[in-house]
Amino acid sequence: MSTNKEAWGSRIGLILAMAGNAVGFGNFLRFPVQAVQNGGGAFIIPYLTCFLLMGIPLLFIEWSIGRYGGNKGFHSTPFMMHSLDKRAIWKYVGVFGIFSNIGIAAYYCYLESWTLSYTMHSAIGTFTGMTQAQVIQLFSDYISIDKATLIPFESIVFFIICLAINIFILSKGLKGGVERVAKIGMPLLIIFGIFLAIKAVTLKAGTDGAVNDGIVGLNFLWTPDFSSIWSPKVWLAAAGQIFFTLSVGMGSIQCYSSYLKKNDDIALNAMSAGWMNEFVEVVLGGAIIIPICIGYLGIDKIKELAELGGLAIGFKTLPYLFSQWGAALGAISGVMWFGLLFFAGITSSLAMGTPVMSFLMDEFNFTRNKSALTFGLVILILGLPTVLFFNQGVFDEYDYWTGTFSLFVFAMAETILFAWFFGITKGWAEITRGADIRVSIIFKYVIRYITPVLLIFVFIGALISPENSDWSGAFSSLFSGNGWPLENGSILKQLTNASLNEQIQNAVDSVTRDELITKKWLINGARALLLSVFLGISYLVYIAHKKRTKLKEENL
Ligand code: PHE
Repeated sequence: MSTNKEAWGSRIGLILAMAGNAVGFGNFLRFPVQAVQNGGGAFIIPYLTCFLLMGIPLLFIEWSIGRYGGNKGFHSTPFMMHSLDKRAIWKYVGVFGIFSNIGIAAYYCYLESWTLSYTMHSAIGTFTGMTQAQVIQLFSDYISIDKATLIPFESIVFFIICLAINIFILSKGLKGGVERVAKIGMPLLIIFGIFLAIKAVTLKAGTDGAVNDGIVGLNFLWTPDFSSIWSPKVWLAAAGQIFFTLSVGMGSIQCYSSYLKKNDDIALNAMSAGWMNEFVEVVLGGAIIIPICIGYLGIDKIKELAELGGLAIGFKTLPYLFSQWGAALGAISGVMWFGLLFFAGITSSLAMGTPVMSFLMDEFNFTRNKSALTFGLVILILGLPTVLFFNQGVFDEYDYWTGTFSLFVFAMAETILFAWFFGITKGWAEITRGADIRVSIIFKYVIRYITPVLLIFVFIGALISPENSDWSGAFSSLFSGNGWPLENGSILKQLTNASLNEQIQNAVDSVTRDELITKKWLINGARALLLSVFLGISYLVYIAHKKRTKLKEENL
């Protein structure tokens, strides 16, 4: 029998843990960057629509699948999905719900370790008096290979410390570990966030070197721009952000929810955690990076920086801007910013560890300690390529396949399973059983028809996005016999490394060329590694299934 005897301690603990699962780097780093890249106010309408039509329905679906499976003794998605429909294929679709957690954790925990190190650096005043160039240099030294040791020394040390903290908390179980950390971390995170948001929004042009009022940034984000409604690219970005930030399509919500009892409420819990995430994302996440950066650097500059991603802004720009507020306040703000990121990160990485541990405990009788340690070791090994080859794009490659691609595939599959194979009548009964709020019947139809159709649309959109996102141009090209002009960012072109191949062809000298060729090797290697993890988990699921069938036969 399974050694898995976990349970939640209290309802508030569960909600905070679920909110902690959702609230992560996505809220503070990814959201502002997506919003800036997609035109500020132009982003917010598709974003909120995706929240209502895909996010909320998926929350209901995942909480339900979790509680349903959990009551049958399954705490990870392969067998949960199998319990909804007996076709063998669902077990292997469910592999995504373990795979994504491992793949994401591998780069996510590395990022988490940066926040730990940067909290320390802020506290000891490392950034005080540094120029912008020096802050940037510090960051690139941090992630680069050290000449003496041939490894990025500090980043590896912090990566290991960070993993050790995760392992320790996970080994204390749901109630004694995950829930406890969420109860401390979430309130602190919100307090730090409110402090920074107030500071950002009340920024005054002309004081401390700011050129714009903080309000200019808020207006940029919140002035609706309807022109984007017709841009599939913006919709893709919005949907992707909703997935990542809510942690749907990953298997971690299902796992947390599988420790509920049969008649425990799902509806209100799911809404509380989901809306709390949205508050932290659009209210707090939207009121820190954007107003501060626009306040100091202006809209054009932040657009330029956003092209380099949220990491660059969060780690290279903000510490410098904070130091404009004076040594003490600069240090305090830095500690709050990176401390907030650390709490956001750890409550999410714990959520990634839990499904993996549950799988090992359920199917292979691992103890809690052994499964926590196994998770940590796997993440260490799988994370090392992102540490060592960060500059060669391995980190981004993990993010793309596990943090974007897999989520869509899995969310699509589970929605179809839930609404069409399990059946919406049974599904609706699951969602509403024990509910402490009345869920509008509209969601029954949304879940059956709208969510799956939208998911399929968005997925196809990403698969074949045309050059310059010009869909009508692409269709006319197709109909006039000139084929479909794929964009390099489309999934199909990514698979063939189209953009990298072009760069290699156009390389100006042989050194650049060789570097790019190495990069291509590393990226393909990362993909092969991730693929083998997927296959490895599938094999474990296969063995677990055989064990279960044998056990059943023996009991007959
Ligand atoms: N939702 C988290 C974020 O916004 C990411 C996450 C992914 C959490 C997978 C749990 C599992 O950063």
